[in-house]
Amino acid sequence: MLDQVKQLEEEALAALEAVEHSEALSEWNRRYLSKKGTLTQMLHSVGQLSKEDRPAFGQAANKVKVALEAAYEARAEALRRSEMTRELESGAVDVTLPGRPVGPGHLHITTQTLRQIYAIFAEMGFQVYESPDVETDEMNFGLLNMPPHHPARDMWDTFWISDQVLLRTHTSPGQIRVMRERHPDPIRVILPGKCYRYEQITARSEHQFYQVEGLAVGHGIRMTDLIGTLTEFARRLYGPERRIRIRSSYFPFTEPSIEADMDCILCRGEGCRVCRHSGWLEICGAGMVHPVVLQNGGYNPEEWSGFAFGLGVERPAMLKYDIDDIRLFYGNDLRFLRQF
Ligand code: PHE
Repeated sequence: MLDQVKQLEEEALAALEAVEHSEALSEWNRRYLSKKGTLTQMLHSVGQLSKEDRPAFGQAANKVKVALEAAYEARAEALRRSEMTRELESGAVDVTLPGRPVGPGHLHITTQTLRQIYAIFAEMGFQVYESPDVETDEMNFGLLNMPPHHPARDMWDTFWISDQVLLRTHTSPGQIRVMRERHPDPIRVILPGKCYRYEQITARSEHQFYQVEGLAVGHGIRMTDLIGTLTEFARRLYGPERRIRIRSSYFPFTEPSIEADMDCILCRGEGCRVCRHSGWLEICGAGMVHPVVLQNGGYNPEEWSGFAFGLGVERPAMLKYDIDDIRLFYGNDLRFLRQF
């Protein structure tokens, strides 16, 4: 019996030596150490021995059990290591291979257009001033001479955040913010930023778009200053031959209010698809700052006057590059964006 135990130990250890992977290891464990394994069977058969033989046999068998268990653990650990090494080696990264090139990005077409606009106005002495996208009803409407229920509010469909808070529908509320911060000094600023309107999205209108507001407040500022500024702007952006046309218009926060057009850059006024055969392209709404708005900003309208305008940003880019759908600006399609 003792010989058998000894023999089993040798056999099991030799078999373990030959085990090359974890499946074979489990198989080995089942064969020798599990409940149905050879060694366990042998331990169970202790009852068949005579009383005198039992202790020696039990001791020997237990010793072998402990030895096999230890050998099993050691083998399992060694296999784990070699399998891990094999896996790492097979999936190894060849650090000497050249990398995939990452192309340089570039500025979004809107950002490029904005920067052109900043540069032109900077040369005319306008500073860039930022104001928030999320505004109060009072800033967006009330202080711009549109009290609650004023019918002119219908010109701007709005995304409301709460009763009194909304996404600004235009950059004009920034006028109040600059005036309140700068008074009693003269002002010459542009206020670029995103505006939002609750509108049906079409090729010509988005629910988000950029505007650049312009504001000049000083002594003796007149309509001719406004027209001169807009003419100069159009000429610097679109070419020195540009002509400007002024139409009368209405905004609650300017008096008088105007709309400025320039001759179509494609047909030079002859009439074409881009200008819808009118020869003219609308560039902005503008006017002389309304006395009530000056007052709301902290300036005495008896002493101060000013002009304001609100330029679109996507529209000029659309004209310049002949883009026929405003939705492309926010579509994140690289095939479109890479062209500019
Ligand atoms: N805020 C006006 C709009 O969004 C444009 C505007 C700005 C008109 C400044 C006059 C003066 O339509």
